[in-house]
Amino acid sequence: MNQSISPTTKLSGSLVLPPDKSISHRSVILNSLAKGSAYINNYSTAADCQSTIACLRELGVDISPTNPLSNTSTAVDLQITSPGQSNLIEPVTTLDAQNSGTTMRLLMGLLASAPLFSVITGDSSLRSRPMSRISTPLSLMGANILGRNDNSLAPLAIKGGSLSGIEYDMPVASAQVKSSLIIAAMFAKGETTLQQPALSRDHTERMLKAMGANISEDGLYISIKPGPDLRPVDMTIPGDISSGAFWMVAAAAHPNAKIKLENVVMNPGRTGIMDVLKSMGAKISVENDRIDGGEPICDITVESSDMTGVDIGGEMIPRTIDEIPIIALAACFAKGKTTIRDASELRVKESDRIKTTVSELSKLGADIQELSDGILVNGTGYLSGGDCSSNGDHRLAMTLAIAGTLANETVNISESEAVAVSYPNFWNDLSMIMNS
Ligand code: S3P
Repeated sequence: MNQSISPTTKLSGSLVLPPDKSISHRSVILNSLAKGSAYINNYSTAADCQSTIACLRELGVDISPTNPLSNTSTAVDLQITSPGQSNLIEPVTTLDAQNSGTTMRLLMGLLASAPLFSVITGDSSLRSRPMSRISTPLSLMGANILGRNDNSLAPLAIKGGSLSGIEYDMPVASAQVKSSLIIAAMFAKGETTLQQPALSRDHTERMLKAMGANISEDGLYISIKPGPDLRPVDMTIPGDISSGAFWMVAAAAHPNAKIKLENVVMNPGRTGIMDVLKSMGAKISVENDRIDGGEPICDITVESSDMTGVDIGGEMIPRTIDEIPIIALAACFAKGKTTIRDASELRVKESDRIKTTVSELSKLGADIQELSDGILVNGTGYLSGGDCSSNGDHRLAMTLAIAGTLANETVNISESEAVAVSYPNFWNDLSMIMNS
């Protein structure tokens, strides 16, 4: 599908963001480990989160909507009832995580820990993404995992059960890897200790503590002891800051804009986008801070700003890992040079996001270059517009749509349907912000 976005003289309005994708996945995966029922309010209707539900149903978990769903619903309320981790059923068919790395990686930890055989696969993008970062440590714990390319690519066949705790120095700062290993470790014999190279989002740790898990953290170390039995936990999913990032950059870079985002999750592993934009000079105000379901939440307003380029790298990268394409767009409208380094993880996301961000923004007239581990942008304050493609990557599709609101001429985006992976209502929200 193609979408054309033309420049607009004003961006304004107030948005309730779609439910957080990372927390939505965890709300059903972690509750599936506990015996009993929980209510999840405001679960994401994004395609990735629906893939997680479909896989868990194959394992015998009952997940039912408790309210009617319309075509434009961004959220659904659910009741989830699980027989508990030790009573999950062996799936009779292949589990399909489709485009969702979080689904595949977190479920690998669950499947390795449970006494059953399963095969998990995904779409062509997910089948090309590295899974040895999970299969290697799970194998060290005693799991039997076989896959293509020396057990590193899906489809993966997993024979679970009988794991032992390990001490593991994680080579990548990844919340997906960390979460998968934490899930497996809760059902292993003995203690597991993980050392992270840098902090990443800690939604799994927060939620599991609320469920009664034996997890403790000390700086970059996490230790997990098996037992006691987990208890189901009800929760309301807050708004997704990674979806909000598109509106933050739109408002900051546009000369006549003010956008309010309500109910945004402020987990410190996710707020790098706000720190980066503030250091570029963006006018961002935060109000109504509160804690809900163990996560900090607030409302955010962003308005037209004069921005200057920045250097981003090191520990900031895991905190902005999904926001680099939209930060690169912000850099096009900032004065001077922006350098993004230490970000080679972007090469193994839904697309090679270093390559696709540079190629697509170049087609729109950006002064932008690929680095081996990042991106260099010379801010010109200007994009011409033109034809580009999402390359099937949801975050690229939305970055290019925001580029369309800021460019001098129309931006035509092919494969624009990719937005449904994380933000099914994106085009409606964009039209509201462009027309209110
Ligand atoms: C996610 C973690 C990140 C992020 C992904 C969602 C999660 O991946 O890119 O979109 O929910 O844990 P990594 O942890 O592999 O960096």
